Amino acid sequence: MSSAENYFITTPIFYVNDVPHIGHGYTEVATDVLARWNRQNGKNTWLLTGTDEHGQKILRTSIANSVSPKEWADKLVAEAWKPLLETITIQNDDFIRTTDERHETAVQKFLQKLKDDGFIYSGEYEGYYCVGCEEYKQPGDLLEGGEDFPGDKVCAIHTRPVEILKESNYFFRMSDFQQKLLDLYESRPEFIQPESVRNEIISFVKRGLDDLSISRASFDWGVKIPWDDSHVVYVWFDALLNYITATGWGSNEAEFAQRWPAIHIVGKDIARFHAVIWPAMLMAAGLEPPKRVFGHGWLLVGGEKMSKSKLTGIAPHEITDVFGSDAFRYYFMSAINFGQDGSFSWEDLAARYQAELANGFGNLASRVIAMVSRYCNDVVPAATEMNDADAVIVDTVTNAFGNANAAIDRLAIHDAISAVWTIVDALNLYITEQEPWVLAKDEANRDRLNTVLYTAVEGLRAIAVGLSPVMPLATAKLWDALGLAEALGGIADQHLSRAGQWGITPDGLRVSALDALFPRIEE
Ligand code: MSP
Repeated sequence: MSSAENYFITTPIFYVNDVPHIGHGYTEVATDVLARWNRQNGKNTWLLTGTDEHGQKILRTSIANSVSPKEWADKLVAEAWKPLLETITIQNDDFIRTTDERHETAVQKFLQKLKDDGFIYSGEYEGYYCVGCEEYKQPGDLLEGGEDFPGDKVCAIHTRPVEILKESNYFFRMSDFQQKLLDLYESRPEFIQPESVRNEIISFVKRGLDDLSISRASFDWGVKIPWDDSHVVYVWFDALLNYITATGWGSNEAEFAQRWPAIHIVGKDIARFHAVIWPAMLMAAGLEPPKRVFGHGWLLVGGEKMSKSKLTGIAPHEITDVFGSDAFRYYFMSAINFGQDGSFSWEDLAARYQAELANGFGNLASRVIAMVSRYCNDVVPAATEMNDADAVIVDTVTNAFGNANAAIDRLAIHDAISAVWTIVDALNLYITEQEPWVLAKDEANRDRLNTVLYTAVEGLRAIAVGLSPVMPLATAKLWDALGLAEALGGIADQHLSRAGQWGITPDGLRVSALDALFPRIEE
């Protein structure tokens, strides 16, 4: 087993009641960029994603579609959720489904352990439940139904009536963990991020924790409670366990010891499950809490959280079919500060595609390669004497990677991209000012022309590496066109922590023609 540092990062597992929209794609891409960055830096990286398939929401959807819940889940996983990963170029290491045997067996084992250790008892639950959220609700979480649902209480998120439950359930002694959770938040301030989510969770836990109902007896689509098969496990209790059942807990302790704990990337709507219920479950089982829970913001459409149930959902392929997967990834990662909400609009996407990708980066790449072809017969020249203008580029590259690597460590993906983008801007300015096409007119300028073109190619090398976790397809094309693959190996093997060094590109490389990286989009 390698001694490299471990980097285990997860997405939420997605409900299969419906097909993915760009909000789901957003979480996947952010997690994938962080994973690629760290993988490329030589860490022993593991990206886990998957699907959440039990519970009433999926059961009801399957009934409405006249198939069994398992048939429904199989269909959605095969036709929608796994294809999503290809659509947006996700390089996951595993895909867990909560209907996998490996998962169900380990969930039962976990429950039995908590029961044996005295953390589970049977009791009566009486209260509200939102099937859309798959969550028990407090009266304070609800709104009045108003004109649409007179007399009913509705969920503030789904604006649909909640159900009133009265059931005998098994309960998890979550209230035992209130102080331990507060101590965890206090001693590890980075545990919940960003700060806004951390503050909200701390005040929630300070208000007091109830024990949690962890079983349901009124339907049977779920993992059976091992000592009482008239109950199934509450879907969130089942789902949260995916992070450890997929990495060997209960079946392969060596793997589990190596991978755990994880960094969880989730939407802020579900940060509470991950930062309260989940660490309490782990503590009860004597396991380490996660390394971090990062609650990112929402994609808004017309000012509202994008959602299928409100018909504001846009499918990821609607964007990638037109702009490509790299543009999808770049747009959402650069236009929105990771951790804050961001509004999606087609106009903004199209404008940034044209200005930043086609004109800013794509043109730069094509022009530099075309000049090396034309003025140097396809061969990257050696630099000779360097002047102040060249030194600006060298410094820009060094600083960019210092800043970008630091940004990724604090999960600030947008800052990492802006840091790399300083090279794009500096190099565009450099070429405008150095005017290689003027230098090329007089053979007396040959040394200067060579230095300018080498500097431009070396700058492009740095840009390609720096953007490769975000835009793996375009940067690999550029890498090949620059002839770097033969000299330095694949782009995915270039360490970002070392990419800021100057002079990595050897002279004498043979470049080849590059089709537009970001072609013009017809209206
Ligand atoms: N199944 C649960 C998660 C269980 S994890 C143990 C679930 N699934 S979900 O399919 O409803 O949504 C999962 C995630 O999708 C959200 O946490 C969030 O990461 C992402 N998003 C859903 N809508 C979104 C937006 N409008 N904007 C950004 N992300 C969104 O919750």
